[in-house]
Amino acid sequence: MTENNLTIAIDGPASSGKSTVAKKIAGDLNLIYVDTGAMYRALTYQALKSNVNIKDENALMKLLQDTDITLRKAGEGQAVYVNEVEVTNDIRQNNVTNTVSIVAAHPRVRTEMVVRQQKLAENTGVVMDGRDIGTVVLPKSDVKIFLVASVMERAERRHKENISKGIFSDLDQLKKDIAERDYKDSTRETSPLKQADDAIRIDTTTLSIEQVVDKVKQLIISRSK
Ligand code: DC
Repeated sequence: MTENNLTIAIDGPASSGKSTVAKKIAGDLNLIYVDTGAMYRALTYQALKSNVNIKDENALMKLLQDTDITLRKAGEGQAVYVNEVEVTNDIRQNNVTNTVSIVAAHPRVRTEMVVRQQKLAENTGVVMDGRDIGTVVLPKSDVKIFLVASVMERAERRHKENISKGIFSDLDQLKKDIAERDYKDSTRETSPLKQADDAIRIDTTTLSIEQVVDKVKQLIISRSK
């Protein structure tokens, strides 16, 4: 296993620090970063924009077949395009955040997304973050990490992030939304949020991003030996 063909799965609940940590690791190890949540968000955004009923799986599947979702490296982060139109900021707005778990619960939507995600990891090293990467998308990953943090800490992180991006934010509401999203993500029938048996759990509640990144890197090094 060389650094450039490493496959690293980072799963965990909303705002547990997955994407920040995954981006940093990918940058440092020169691996491609894939934010799978952005793909579900992109489809949700497109459905809301096109007035497609997000509870109607057939309608969503039809839309998904006509929806090209592309992730491109942009500086330290990742830009998201739907049919070549950039939607990086649009998919982080509250209307998408509050409805995406309905879209992500449809089994056929998930099957198609998993196929697309597996293609992105074909013949290349990746750091992929999501909810089902270690369990379903890339079960043979070299290293599997499961990040967790308290609801309070995650709500505070999201609150700060929203404010820095100029998005309206209410801390109490965020706490409720995060708890509700945890519940929906972990109780849905298809690929619920669940730690893989061979994943390493890291509680990030009292850790800085740098501390988490260091821990993950140490794990990668110890697994590479
Ligand atoms: O990580 P995020 O908040 O951007 O994810 C958005 C939604 O998509 C969230 O409700 C969980 C869902 N999701 C999923 O079900 N499976 C994934 N691999 C990634 C995200």
